[in-house]
Amino acid sequence: MVSYLHLLPFLGVLFASSVHAKPSSVGDGNNTVGNWDYVPGAYIIEYEQGHTLSTKIASLAPVKNVWPVMRYQNLNMRKFASSKGIKHNLGGHSQHASRTAAGSDTGYAPHILTQVDKLHTEGYTGKGIRIGIVDSGVDYKHPVLGGCFGEGCVVAYGMDLIGPDFNGTNTPVPGPYPYPDCLGHGTHVSGIIAAQENPLGFIGAAYGATLGMYKALDCGGGSSNDVLMAAFNQAYEDGSDVISISIGIYSGWTEDPLAVTVSRIVDAGVPVVIANGNQGPAVFSSASPGDGMGVMNVASIDNTETPFLGTEAFTSLHSPSGNLTSFAWLPGTPAFPNITLPLWAVTPNATTDGSSSACSPLSSSAPTDLSDKIVLVELAGCDDPTIAENLAKNNVKYIMYYSSDDDLDDVYSVSTAPSTLGAGMVPLQQAAIWLDLLGKGTDLYAKMVDPQSAKPAATYFPNNSTGGYLSYFSSWGPTWEVDVNPHIATPGGSILSTYPLDMGGYYVDSGTSMATPLMASIYALIMQARSIKDPKTLLSMISSTAKQTKYYDLYQSIFYNDPAPVAQQGAGLAQAYDAIHATTTLSVSSISLNDTDHFVNRTDFTIKNGAKQAVTYSIGHLPSRSRDTFKAGVSTPSQNSNSSSAAATLTFSATKVTILAGGSAKITIKVALPQGLTQANLPVYSGYISLNGTNGEKLVIPYLGVIGSLGSLQGIDAGNSYIYHSTGHSWQPAPNNDTWTIPYPSVGSQPPASAAIDCPALYILANTGVPLIRADIIPLGDTPANTTKILGLDTAGSFPGYPIQWVDANIYQTPFNGVTQEGVILPEGSYAVLLRGLKIFGSASNADDYYIVQTQSFNIKYNSTAT
Ligand SMILES: *[C@@H]1O[C@H](CO)[C@@H](O)[C@H](O)[C@H]1NC(C)=O
Ligand SMILES: *[C@@H]1O[C@H](CO)[C@@H](O)[C@H](O)[C@H]1NC(C)=O
Ligand SMILES: *[C@@H]1O[C@H](CO)[C@@H](O)[C@H](O)[C@H]1NC(C)=O
Ligand SMILES: *[C@@H]1O[C@H](CO)[C@@H](O)[C@H](O)[C@H]1NC(C)=O
Ligand SMILES: *[C@@H]1O[C@H](CO)[C@@H](O)[C@H](O)[C@H]1NC(C)=O
Ligand SMILES: *[C@@H]1O[C@H](CO)[C@@H](O)[C@H](O)[C@H]1NC(C)=O
Ligand SMILES: *[C@@H]1O[C@H](CO)[C@@H](O)[C@H](O)[C@H]1NC(C)=O
Ligand SMILES: *[C@@H]1O[C@H](CO)[C@@H](O)[C@H](O)[C@H]1NC(C)=O
Ligand SMILES: *[C@@H]1O[C@H](CO)[C@@H](O)[C@H](O)[C@H]1NC(C)=O
Ligand SMILES: *[C@@H]1O[C@H](CO)[C@@H](O)[C@H](O)[C@H]1NC(C)=O
Ligand SMILES: *[C@@H]1O[C@H](CO)[C@@H](O)[C@H](O)[C@H]1NC(C)=O
Repeated sequence: MVSYLHLLPFLGVLFASSVHAKPSSVGDGNNTVGNWDYVPGAYIIEYEQGHTLSTKIASLAPVKNVWPVMRYQNLNMRKFASSKGIKHNLGGHSQHASRTAAGSDTGYAPHILTQVDKLHTEGYTGKGIRIGIVDSGVDYKHPVLGGCFGEGCVVAYGMDLIGPDFNGTNTPVPGPYPYPDCLGHGTHVSGIIAAQENPLGFIGAAYGATLGMYKALDCGGGSSNDVLMAAFNQAYEDGSDVISISIGIYSGWTEDPLAVTVSRIVDAGVPVVIANGNQGPAVFSSASPGDGMGVMNVASIDNTETPFLGTEAFTSLHSPSGNLTSFAWLPGTPAFPNITLPLWAVTPNATTDGSSSACSPLSSSAPTDLSDKIVLVELAGCDDPTIAENLAKNNVKYIMYYSSDDDLDDVYSVSTAPSTLGAGMVPLQQAAIWLDLLGKGTDLYAKMVDPQSAKPAATYFPNNSTGGYLSYFSSWGPTWEVDVNPHIATPGGSILSTYPLDMGGYYVDSGTSMATPLMASIYALIMQARSIKDPKTLLSMISSTAKQTKYYDLYQSIFYNDPAPVAQQGAGLAQAYDAIHATTTLSVSSISLNDTDHFVNRTDFTIKNGAKQAVTYSIGHLPSRSRDTFKAGVSTPSQNSNSSSAAATLTFSATKVTILAGGSAKITIKVALPQGLTQANLPVYSGYISLNGTNGEKLVIPYLGVIGSLGSLQGIDAGNSYIYHSTGHSWQPAPNNDTWTIPYPSVGSQPPASAAIDCPALYILANTGVPLIRADIIPLGDTPANTTKILGLDTAGSFPGYPIQWVDANIYQTPFNGVTQEGVILPEGSYAVLLRGLKIFGSASNADDYYIVQTQSFNIKYNSTAT
């Protein structure tokens, strides 16, 4: 169906077509499965290598994979709005800003954390490196993103793969410009890589790089897998040196079609950096395509300095004409006009209740006329208009509210009283500075600027609670087959970047979406500095030199001294400078010890000394915390399962080894499982093999394993998988042997929209990942259906859309109109659905590798006849 696809022969032909009777109007179905729909009758077919693109030949070529075309809603990673939608005057920028000169870094926290600032100082900016991004487009007219598109611009290449009217089910209409970005996500991601110097104190991590943008997300953040696969491939075909993808579907399978596509690109020699998702802190919550083999999968760390984005105004000490200090505030209704007045704070001795708020009128100790002051008041205990009404009794005209806690999300656009002439709000952290000065008797003046003409401003407040720790939202690995992910962590929690001009120009956002472009930038810096482009080498360089961060358990509010689990942080926080300067290379970037059934009790790795002199390495073990997948008695991965200090025992063939210049040494490791963990809770244990070289280099290899048997998981929840009435509640199973009388369908027709006609519908709850779910309809009693033997059982056909593969822990709902997946109209009669779940590591062609869940019986009758 997506005929514009032009794909690389050696990637295997990924070609969208329909293999079964295709409905005349694709998209009128309502086959909701989890948070996605499948496009009925549309499939992506991958042919065996060596077969070429031609449709005619393709139909004869051996098929390697068939995946249904899936429509996804709102793929952009979860947003944490700090400040949004402020219209700013962006005057002061020239329309076509020139490139920021090398070396003009600003001491920006995300860059200090990752040593990117040191590489900027050395003159590396990503110059000459092409970074391809697949996202929602980019506002390249933004002066901070260069202001133009094409050769010589910051955003130099890319395309629009979808067009303005794409909604996932209709035909995408490609265009030459990845513009506009009506979601904002792609512009934010682009700024993290390539923002040029600007007044807000941030800069792109690879601000000298050349960007390509492939617009593949619609305005609601939705897309479809065929479009995404085409976008990934196009970014490759256009010669990107690295591809950055902040998009994902919760999955946990390396075999998912998106994951397979990116793995092929990595195999072809181009590194792909992908967000792991924002579904933490549950274990096994990683997303596809980040699950792909060989990719760099990125977790998020909280910024150590939380930016507060607002409108610029100024304070001065001692006199209104003193030196001006800039601050950021959020305008209320009404906002401030241009005015300069002294600040006066509501303090406990000016209130009747001893607060710093004004939920009742001020006490008699407060001045009766405060009309010539800006009154600083805490927004606590009551709402903003109530405070304004109470302050009005002292003739207050101008109010600056502040929040009662240091959560910047609690700063908002306040409402006031009819007599208020100007109001706004600042964070507690800002007010604390002013209250301190006022408390010392210092005169403090605020020079307010009308927001219509004010510039945007950002203030950075230290995050001294979670700053530098893993972001709580960051998804955890491993995959359902115990592949190690994530691989690395970079700052993604509370990041200020560019935003489309018509959406305010700047924005603070959080997610592994924000961590990913920073990691892609680090790759660009390494490529420029070391001319290394091989994905495996790059992954190993970054992984081995990462810095482990400690574990913070959000639910128990405990800060541990142990490193965070590998399933949460991968190797740890990326250290770009150390990676570039390391002379030691390790043969593996991570080790999976698999589950208990497939426990790897012995493994090895090789150390290569690339230094000009001999180096002695001491080899040790740094265990991290183990974390249960399940809470006791719960069968789906839990956000607040227990952690433990129980660790594996590692025995090395040598704990000290001296390697001559250019030489290498192999170290074998014997592993004994950790003791004292509860197998039923599926604990994931992990740690780091650490190497300290006499040349000062400190290196790690992260490892992880699972206690328990993934092959014994029965992901399909038998008690919560059933037939229900499509017009009823999906959580209410229909009575056994219920009867549906529905119109006689036509061959190839789709189930009616659920609201229209009541039909039997299938509900499946998967508690964990399942590699494959079959839903075969079996005739009961003397129902005269023709049957086929599938895996040893007589079935009348498959439920439409089934079997489904690479299933995530989710809800899957499908209505049925009498037409099977194979296009057969079932005769009237009695049926049940036999759900067969393939066990993890099982073989799809072996009936014994499935567990079986049978639904209630249901009867189908037709109230019309074939036309
Ligand atoms: C997508 O857009 C087409 C028209 O282009 C419309 O017919 C269809 O209903 C839309 N689908 C959804 C899911 O909005
Ligand atoms: C203003 O700043 C300048 C330069 O830092 C300093 O020399 C001067 O003393 C300051 N003036 C006041 C009134 O603080
Ligand atoms: C407010 O002040 C700014 C300069 O700080 C000026 O550009 C703007 O025109 C003023 N607005 C009004 C309404 O006077
Ligand atoms: C009470 O108010 C007076 C004058 O307004 C001020 O000097 C003093 O610091 C205040 N005391 C406290 C505890 O806030
Ligand atoms: C953390 O910051 C808050 C204000 O942002 C401050 O009140 C507190 O003292 C700080 N704590 C530490 C340990 O620095
Ligand atoms: C774990 O073992 C299974 C069975 O041998 C294998 O299929 C799977 O690939 C292994 N996982 C990893 C990460 O090696
Ligand atoms: C390690 O595994 C191998 C085979 O997988 C087995 O033969 C051997 O006994 C195991 N060693 C230990 C110490 O468990
Ligand atoms: C490496 O050095 C760190 C201190 O920087 C130390 O904690 C660790 O135990 C050392 N590892 C080995 C194997 O010597
Ligand atoms: C199931 O329903 C059918 C049709 O209503 C009826 O003929 C049959 O007796 C029922 N079977 C059972 C076991 O209740
Ligand atoms: C699917 O069903 C829902 C609920 O009845 C309805 O709101 C939606 O419009 C339907 N979508 C399509 C594409 O028919
Ligand atoms: C069963 O298959 C035969 C042969 O294809 C066909 O004639 C018959 O109509 C089918 N019966 C049903 C109930 O579909």
